[in-house]
Amino acid sequence: MSDLKVNIGNLTLKNPVLTASGTFGYGEEFSSFFDINDLGGIITKTITLKPRVGNPFPRIAETPSGMLNSIGLANVGVDAFISEKMPFLKTLNTAVIVNVAGNTVEEYVELISKLEDSDAEFDGYEINVSCPNVKEGGVLFGSNYNITAEITRKIRKATQRCVIIKLTPNVTSIGDVAAAVEQAGADSVSLINTLIGMAIDVDTRRPKIACITGGLSGPAIKPVALAKVFEVSKRVNIPIIGIGGIMNYQDALEFMMAGATAIEVGTANFIDPAISSTIVANLHNYCISHNIRHVREIVSSIIA
Ligand code: FUM
Repeated sequence: MSDLKVNIGNLTLKNPVLTASGTFGYGEEFSSFFDINDLGGIITKTITLKPRVGNPFPRIAETPSGMLNSIGLANVGVDAFISEKMPFLKTLNTAVIVNVAGNTVEEYVELISKLEDSDAEFDGYEINVSCPNVKEGGVLFGSNYNITAEITRKIRKATQRCVIIKLTPNVTSIGDVAAAVEQAGADSVSLINTLIGMAIDVDTRRPKIACITGGLSGPAIKPVALAKVFEVSKRVNIPIIGIGGIMNYQDALEFMMAGATAIEVGTANFIDPAISSTIVANLHNYCISHNIRHVREIVSSIIA
């Protein structure tokens, strides 16, 4: 046996595999495919203060080795999340991280306060300051490290739960943003959210998604994401959660070797809904066959 446990802030995850926000619904949608409790944790679709219908259709397009999305943070809103989605999430025996976003700094704080004042049972927050598909908040906040730090400071004061800040790669220096949120009290950073991209249908000359640009995810962005994780690992001491085109356990290992303590599986869930549990099993087999007693030994083990 190998020990797959990892620590993120005050959380001990049973293994380093999480599902990425926006690719795993509110968990229940995937519960018929495999036992979600096999995972280190799940991260919910982004929740906002009010329900959002999201952006006009089409809002998804396939690209070579990737996927463009411009969903626009469609979600049920915090009240329905607490009353309709939390009952299932409460039954899980794995970490539940609620991903949240706001149009203003005050909205983030109000949303967190609402969740803190509710009887919702969950383990932490992933703060979305990196969505490229909204007119207010999102990447506009995440690309300004003063605002990102201010949001982090205010959220830190509002909760004892684990606070993970999800960073955008669409900045000049992701290391500067990561360092700023560490100083502001974040327990962890997760990266990368999607890269801004576009695709055009040459017959109609129209963009393939209605909002013209969207967020690119999938294997196409993995080398970029790995480089960003490596860069951030040189700048912060808090744990990093690696995201970006992870399709199998080898990809997960690359992120861990580059500096990630845990990883999130995103676009791959749309191809194989049970892929994240396969990655957990294969990580375990890898540790056994390589005589690794604790998976955390792999973190930052790149020989460079
Ligand atoms: O458009 C969206 O809902 C995407 C969100 C994100 O990338 O954070």
